[in-house]
Amino acid sequence: MVFIRALLSLVSLLTLGAAYSAVSDDTLKSFPSPSDEFNIKTGKILAPILRTRVSGTEGSTAVLQHFLDFFKNELPEWKVELHNSSSTTPVSNGKEVPFVNVIATRDPPSTGVGDVGRLALVAHYDSKLTPEGFIGAIDSAAPCAMILHTARSIDKALTKKWAAGDGADDLEEKKGVQILLLDGEEAFQSWTATDSLYGARALAESWEFAYHPATSTYSTPLDSIDLFLLLDLLGSARPTIPSYFKTTHWAYKNMAKIEHRLREHGLFKSSPNHAAKMAKRENKKKRKEPYFLPEAEKDHNAFRGGYIEDDHIPFMLRGVEILHMIPSPFPHVWHDITDDGEHLDMDTVEDWTRLVTAFAAEWMELEGFFDVKSEKREEYTEKSEFGIP
Ligand SMILES: *[C@@H]1O[C@H](CO)[C@@H](O)[C@H](O)[C@H]1NC(C)=O
Ligand SMILES: [Zn+2]
Repeated sequence: MVFIRALLSLVSLLTLGAAYSAVSDDTLKSFPSPSDEFNIKTGKILAPILRTRVSGTEGSTAVLQHFLDFFKNELPEWKVELHNSSSTTPVSNGKEVPFVNVIATRDPPSTGVGDVGRLALVAHYDSKLTPEGFIGAIDSAAPCAMILHTARSIDKALTKKWAAGDGADDLEEKKGVQILLLDGEEAFQSWTATDSLYGARALAESWEFAYHPATSTYSTPLDSIDLFLLLDLLGSARPTIPSYFKTTHWAYKNMAKIEHRLREHGLFKSSPNHAAKMAKRENKKKRKEPYFLPEAEKDHNAFRGGYIEDDHIPFMLRGVEILHMIPSPFPHVWHDITDDGEHLDMDTVEDWTRLVTAFAAEWMELEGFFDVKSEKREEYTEKSEFGIP
């Protein structure tokens, strides 16, 4: 018995995190564009988040309700849970402020609670207390919207994949997706270890010892996170995202590869070479692409251990693998009253959404499960039905 367990865990060790497969060009082109739903005044997904939503206030409750409605109406297959905690803050005069994290999970059907490894898509939804009226469009209303849109874009493909029996094999790795919309990221007064990351700290602490049944593949919900993909400060034009962590550089490279392909195929709206931009300018000479992820070729020895403090910290300290999509330098509007809907670069917001959607589709190995209308695609579908990669 002992021997069998050891063997089984060896098998799972070998397969964990190993499977990742590119989607086809047709699939890349097929992802829906979020334009209307991201309208900053009327957009069904983004507009309700573009308001003040300081933890413990009415605005926070309204945005939380918006998320819950979205999952209920658009993503009924997702299991939604709230993680509540409370803490005093430097400005609460000893009163406890409530923090509510949203956890939405989609796992393959009939899998044990501890047997699914997950891609976590993470952003914070609270806004900063000061300056008064601060909206935080890039920080992080837009990232929340990107994540909701991504989840819906891959939802049907997940259903199809699992209905086809994919991922049901006992020895195959079981993969799910988890969305964490975290509360209380911002400091109320000034950033310290205790005045910041209220929701993330409480969640990581409570998950650290929330043991799954003893025979599980993953010991705790923290252990179940294969990759913690954190989006922050996204939505300003021309971001550059360094590769912060050596151990997830491979995932960064996959994201960068998708960016290259999207630009190559004219699917990146913010590109100076996008057809819509070219049509508007005299000089038709191709311009240099301003890559969001310019460090794909970063040398292994070039990782100096620098990183930016954000919601991943309490998770990283407990061994979770992190891919941090945050620009360096920060966008100009950072923590300024001008970080509002009007200052978002909507092309960039859409591009991020497509990029994250494609990454999630590749992570979940969803090629062949999207509705793609082209003859070439039908060959693909047939092939994958016969299990030929
Ligand atoms: C957590 O807080 C929310 C919002 O205040 C509340 O609706 C919910 O019932 C709470 N959940 C638990 C388990 O206490
Ligand atoms: Zn902030």
